[in-house]
Amino acid sequence: MQHLFEAQQLDPDIIRQLFSLADELEAKREPRLKGKVMASLFYEPSTRTRLSFESAMHRLGGGVIGTENAASFSSAAKGESLEDSIQVISMYADVIVLRYFEKDIAKRLAKILSVPVINAGDGAGQHPTQALLDLYTIKRELGRMDDISIAMVGDPKYSRSVRSLVYLLGKYKNISVHFVSAPELRPEPDILAYLDRHNIRYEQHDALDAVITKVDVIYRNRLQKERFPNEDLYKRCIDRITINREVASSMKNGAILMDPLPRDAALSPDVDDLPQAVYFKQPYYGLLVRMALLAYFLEK
Ligand code: NCD
Repeated sequence: MQHLFEAQQLDPDIIRQLFSLADELEAKREPRLKGKVMASLFYEPSTRTRLSFESAMHRLGGGVIGTENAASFSSAAKGESLEDSIQVISMYADVIVLRYFEKDIAKRLAKILSVPVINAGDGAGQHPTQALLDLYTIKRELGRMDDISIAMVGDPKYSRSVRSLVYLLGKYKNISVHFVSAPELRPEPDILAYLDRHNIRYEQHDALDAVITKVDVIYRNRLQKERFPNEDLYKRCIDRITINREVASSMKNGAILMDPLPRDAALSPDVDDLPQAVYFKQPYYGLLVRMALLAYFLEK
């Protein structure tokens, strides 16, 4: 693996390798990337992804350069193309972590890359490092990655986290996926075609009560309203996916409630202290997984 653009690139062997590296780095923090430089280039807002990559690099002894708002503070504001910016930054950094507002950037960049590029979210496309940290969370919290029934609740249409996680889970045994959303926010055809190709069971539901008591994982995600055609859709969809303390308490014994965050109004703060809520553990696991990824790319 030279770069990481899509979850499909991660096979179970690489995943095993990355997760054992994450375990090792949790137990023993060493400055193993001393002298290396990571550039973070973010054209869309971010809290967790950018700061956890930067923290991961610092914790491994490496240096960080970057711009938190490349759209306004890099030469993009003067009309520079992504291709030109990447070619220049490749001379300053050993790895580039990139968040961009359009999907399928891999195809655009394929010919010009000279250092590893890690996709930190491309529009409504993919977010492979989020999916990796989500899978690592499932492994740590449930003790397995096979035999999982998961409900994707909220916005499976525009959420890049959902797409990448579905693609990753498809590599494991006995997975079933329940999409819960308004009809307008059903998953895109590529996701369903992938599930069909891999013989993975899936169902689509309008409301949570059909699945809440049955699944091992509720993967909630924010309605991506910045990608919606109009405000109306948000108002129509938000109610049917609300999770409050009462709803969360009806989850199956041992099941977990995940969310890539940030939350929206549909995840009530009164859920936060329930044992099933693991969404504030995900960012911690994410730090470990991103340390593992940086070590994987930079120690080759
Ligand atoms: C997600 C993202 O940016 O795709 N957040 C994250 O990286 N943790 C989810 C979102 O914005 O809803």
